[in-house]
Amino acid sequence: MSACKIKPFQASFSVCGGNFDDAGLVSGRIKTILKEMGFTNDVLRRTAIVTYEAEVNMVSYAERGKIRLLVLPDHVVIEATDEGPGIADIRVAIQQGWSTANEKIREMGFGAGMGLNNIRTFSDIFHISSDPGVGTRLKMIIATQEGPDRRTGGAPP
Ligand SMILES: Nc1ncnc2c1ncn2[C@@H]1O[C@H](COP(=O)(O)OP(=O)(O)OP(=O)(O)O)[C@@H](O)[C@H]1O
Ligand SMILES: [Mg+2]
Repeated sequence: MSACKIKPFQASFSVCGGNFDDAGLVSGRIKTILKEMGFTNDVLRRTAIVTYEAEVNMVSYAERGKIRLLVLPDHVVIEATDEGPGIADIRVAIQQGWSTANEKIREMGFGAGMGLNNIRTFSDIFHISSDPGVGTRLKMIIATQEGPDRRTGGAPP
């Protein structure tokens, strides 16, 4: 898609902690918005994955949160900010297989300890920060212009 065709766009959505019935609604709506804007399947898939993982983590662990979508000419930004217990040690939390999911979360089919790792894998840029007792902030950037695969460190043309 040509960068000049993309008008900047933003939208913000609320997520309610503990509400597993609605887990996936926000990531689904964001995917629909991006699909209507004409993004490629690769951009849709990667944005949907990172947004879904952030949304499920908010539902699973936080009190409440917001997910913001920002569409810019050459990338999509997803910001997920929550109020909740936060993460004491991000380096540990991001390791594959590490999880504090309780019985209820596991019954819902989550808790494999893969979410943050998937977010890191499928984002072109991923920032996470957290204040224990206050909340957690994630920022994911998905490049939308065709070109070398930045995740594998391809050099620009
Ligand atoms: N928004 C959050 N607030 C507080 N803790 C979080 C948050 N997101 C993740 N965590 C912590 O980091 C751990 C790892 O998260 P991650 O998403 O990688 O795995 P998971 O949610 O446990 O399992 P999966 O995502 O595979 O269903 C969680 O178990 C939890 O302890
Ligand atoms: Mg998770």
